[in-house]
Amino acid sequence: MVDPAVPDYQLAAFLMAVVLRGLTDRETTGLLEAMVDSGDRIDLSPVGRPVADKHSTGGVGDKTTLVVAPLVAAAGTPVAKLSGRGLGHTGGTLDKLESIPGFRVDLSIPELVSQVAEHGIAVAAQTADIVPADKRLYALRDVTATVQSIPLIATSIMSKKIAAGASRLVLDVKVGEGAFMEDLDSARALSQAMMRLGDAARLPTTCMLSSMDEPLGCAVGNALEVAEAVATLEGRGPAEFTELCLVAAGLMLGDRTAADEALRSGRALAAYREWISAQGGDPDAALPEAPDVTDVRADRSGVVACCHSRGIADAAMRLGAGRARKEDAVDHAVGIVVHRKRGDRVEAGDVLATVHSRGPADDDAVRASFELVDGGVERGPAVLEITSAGT
Ligand code: URA
Repeated sequence: MVDPAVPDYQLAAFLMAVVLRGLTDRETTGLLEAMVDSGDRIDLSPVGRPVADKHSTGGVGDKTTLVVAPLVAAAGTPVAKLSGRGLGHTGGTLDKLESIPGFRVDLSIPELVSQVAEHGIAVAAQTADIVPADKRLYALRDVTATVQSIPLIATSIMSKKIAAGASRLVLDVKVGEGAFMEDLDSARALSQAMMRLGDAARLPTTCMLSSMDEPLGCAVGNALEVAEAVATLEGRGPAEFTELCLVAAGLMLGDRTAADEALRSGRALAAYREWISAQGGDPDAALPEAPDVTDVRADRSGVVACCHSRGIADAAMRLGAGRARKEDAVDHAVGIVVHRKRGDRVEAGDVLATVHSRGPADDDAVRASFELVDGGVERGPAVLEITSAGT
């Protein structure tokens, strides 16, 4: 598949055939192995201990890695992660990290391995040598409407995780309007497919399913999300986001109590600071700030039925927080902080969200993302389901 002699039109025909006909488990495993073998595999054995990795299928306001990696490292398990940039309405961890002055995401593989060994955490950009087949296939999927296929998504994600060399993996599969998988059944099917692939590659994999109907936490936008991640490590984060991070860290460690203790003791915050400094960043430097800060207020009273993640993400993207095309630059300072979420009561005139912008805020689009009803709304759990192999 990575042989340039194979023309794009044949690959595109293959991808469409997979979308229409699916793949058997054996075919999916075969595709996975071919994809992993298309490039390099990272050897993390010099770290001398099992290394954990996590992956989210992509969400709005998803700064989980910035909290979970320090929680896990502080509890004694090193974390190595290759990450991506944001595209469309979902943000990328690399863009968030790059809002920290000095932070370098372009580590070479030897640098990544030695940083994990010495400091317990490294998060770096995916290199061209890791699963080049995915790079080619994903670019074609993007332009041929063949992204939405469980075997293609599962092999794309798992090939990169297997090549990245960790020895245990937690996948946060997002469900809902801001996610690839819009309903619970498809999210379960994707989870099962990825766990089967993890099993075939001897990479123990656990999936947690979490809702993406609303943004994760309150902040959406790169520097704003870093600030929220730090607040969470200081014990001042939004309750449901803190819980999601502790669940993920507990699964990566196989010990939820150790994750709680890493947060309570402040050791996770210390691990974050060590990691940021090791990667060239200054954890004490001021983050970029947008010049215009505008409160968006409710025009009626009621109870929030949903703060729609898609509406908030699209508004944040129009402010410049995300990119519509791969080559676009992002503005690290801009974004939206939501103050009300599902189940919260609001009075007319209450602040629903704060927009950080350069120029006028799109108040109406932000206000329209809040669905207000007269009552009867309950907040859902931070994590909907957890599935490990065999359950
Ligand atoms: N993330 C990936 O890396 N690949 C997909 O196909 C979908 C989400």
